[in-house]
Amino acid sequence: MPLPSLDLVVGKTYLLRIDLLPSLRMAAKTQKLSLKREVGLIGAISFIAGTMMGSGIFMSPQSVLVNIGSPGASLVIWAACGLLATLGSLCYAELGTVISESGAEYIYILRIFGQVVAFMFVFSFVIVMRPASATGIALSFAEYAVAPFYHDCTPPELVVKCVAAAGILVLAIVNSMNVRLAMFIQVFSMVIKLVALAVIIIGGVVLLFKGNTENFEDSFKGTNVEISSIGISLYQGLWSYDGWNTLNYVTEELKRPEVNLPRAVIIAIPMVTMLYLLVNVSYLAVMTPRELMSSNAVAVTWGNKVLGSWGWVMSIAAALSAFGSLNGTFFSGGRVCFVAAREGHMPDILSMAHVNRLTPSPALIFTTAISLLVLIPGDFQSIVNFFSFTAWFFYAITLSGLLYLKIKKPELPRPYRVPIVIPILVIIAAIFLVLAPIIDNPAIEYLYVTMFIFSGILVYVPFIHFKLCPGLLEKVTVFLQLFLEVAPADKNL
Ligand code: ARG
Repeated sequence: MPLPSLDLVVGKTYLLRIDLLPSLRMAAKTQKLSLKREVGLIGAISFIAGTMMGSGIFMSPQSVLVNIGSPGASLVIWAACGLLATLGSLCYAELGTVISESGAEYIYILRIFGQVVAFMFVFSFVIVMRPASATGIALSFAEYAVAPFYHDCTPPELVVKCVAAAGILVLAIVNSMNVRLAMFIQVFSMVIKLVALAVIIIGGVVLLFKGNTENFEDSFKGTNVEISSIGISLYQGLWSYDGWNTLNYVTEELKRPEVNLPRAVIIAIPMVTMLYLLVNVSYLAVMTPRELMSSNAVAVTWGNKVLGSWGWVMSIAAALSAFGSLNGTFFSGGRVCFVAAREGHMPDILSMAHVNRLTPSPALIFTTAISLLVLIPGDFQSIVNFFSFTAWFFYAITLSGLLYLKIKKPELPRPYRVPIVIPILVIIAAIFLVLAPIIDNPAIEYLYVTMFIFSGILVYVPFIHFKLCPGLLEKVTVFLQLFLEVAPADKNL
């Protein structure tokens, strides 16, 4: 690479022109940029709860009930999902304190199973899972946001998709500008969603006391006990709980992670489970199972029945709730690209942080671009299914890594330990979840998803292992560095 016009070295190998950006001079002085440890216990709890509670609790109760067939069994499914999320997150708390780097599944798989499997994960994560979950949430944000304007008809698809795209863009900008602002949105939207859920719960309790209990009589009648019905209702319920592992993506930004990580999950996830159960009881106190099954936006139907002309408030609250969840998804989603690039599994530019704001903006821009692409053909239902399938596939791999560490490396320092039966139980559940929809009803799409996951290996061999065309990437990197004002960030362990 020609040196004369480039006279400053920051971090690894990249050269930056000192005269171009005064702020880079600062970066040169300190030599290394680090993401700050800004997230405390309250931030951590609202971060988990805020990411978990989003679109699902306002969308999935209907599909859980349709699949499982009876109100009693649907409450059992919601409780089982909560239990599974809690147990899973306890396992992740141990992993997060043993391997204290950000990046959750990616970094655990990398440290335990090595490069190839980790690359397969990051490949599926970056191209399918994270954009798909962002898009799914954005779509439900949009559905609820436009609902008040379309009283008795379904809103046009184009309008919904444009509003979803606007939501994605706004949050991408916020997250690249300022960590504090992103945290503020998280806390604010969490307050709104807690109020909304509290309104639903209180409304339900009042109606129960008034004697609206007939939907709970003989409440297991009609339960479907086929494997695939159970599997799919669990998928739908678990979508509402997904995000239970959010904190593990940002371990390096947590203050005292060894204390705050287990504490935050132990507080946040049972709290969310209780709320979800109570909300479901309230839905059933207000609507008959038949009404619930035929409603696409349960919270709006609930609002119209209980709040009358104020029913629209529920749809705004549901929209804001999804907005907060989307924010959490972005906040942590960018971090995975960031960690993977740092390990050489993604182009280097994705591991850099803005020199002043210290946000990993290139990684955020990348995630946004793919999310917008997924938005064009995407529909909510299939997104939930394929997302859950892929996610539980990798959760199972990650948890078997924990099992491996517990058995083979008992000497590693563990500030937090989970009893060994817990990962075993969650692994069995994850295997059931991945196989259940395939055994009964083997849809060809699941084969495509599986092939995609394994096709990561085809990318790995030429580009990562044999490092084809590195020169081109370096030129692009230097250009983008100057354009985006970013520099390599250092580990912050
Ligand atoms: N639980 C969220 C919701 O109900 C979806 C989370 C998607 N996954 C994620 N990691 N953000 O909307």
